[in-house]
Amino acid sequence: MIELTNLKKQYGARTVLDVPSLSVKAGACVALIGANGSGKTTLLRILAGQLKPTDGTFSAPQPVLYLPQRSYAFRGTVLQNVLIGTKNKREEALSLLERMELTPLLQKSARSLSGGELQRLAFCRLMLRESALLLLDEPTSACDAHAAELLLRELQRFRAAQNCSVLLSTHSSAVAAQVADRCVQLENGRISADGTPQQFCTR
Ligand SMILES: Nc1ncnc2c1ncn2[C@@H]1O[C@H](COP(=O)(O)OP(=O)(O)OP(=O)(O)O)[C@@H](O)[C@H]1O
Ligand SMILES: [Mg+2]
Repeated sequence: MIELTNLKKQYGARTVLDVPSLSVKAGACVALIGANGSGKTTLLRILAGQLKPTDGTFSAPQPVLYLPQRSYAFRGTVLQNVLIGTKNKREEALSLLERMELTPLLQKSARSLSGGELQRLAFCRLMLRESALLLLDEPTSACDAHAAELLLRELQRFRAAQNCSVLLSTHSSAVAAQVADRCVQLENGRISADGTPQQFCTR
């Protein structure tokens, strides 16, 4: 269960997030939607412990894994990047990279990847860890349709294995419809709508 109470973030006099109350059931997958600058990343970063709220409280199940909006790579190969911080996960990593169709890139320098390849790599790094709450900031924004499909399939596999809750931001109604049970829409930092993906999607 995730609970937010009177959560606010201000920069100077400007309030960029103002959520009086939000609860998310354990195991749910919630899509955060809303225009550029509406506060999605701010909310995810607060839940990830990367940003201090100006006011209010929240509770979230631990451990939390966070995929930032901007993917990054460490120095080294794709395989080394995926294995960072893990132990005895080589076999698991190889099958994961196979499912994500990154096997041909295994020995390539991670910093030479294309945007979509890098986003898939950053996502794979999380998939080898344990999580009670997965926070994904626009996880498919750089992916082509096929890569997005692979990534979302892997996400569903991870959810089934770990029973974790997921909060993901997206500008794609197709992504929300495919994986989310619920959509929460932000507008200027406030929740302006909350419903099922079907209520939001006009595909
Ligand atoms: N360090 C900062 N100082 C001042 N304003 C900031 C800072 N960080 C974010 N903001 C502002 O907060 C607002 C919310 O930003 P946020 O990144 O949460 O939006 P978003 O919904 O994730 O947008 P996008 O869809 O473009 O990723 C924006 O107007 C942004 O300019
Ligand atoms: Mg953002």
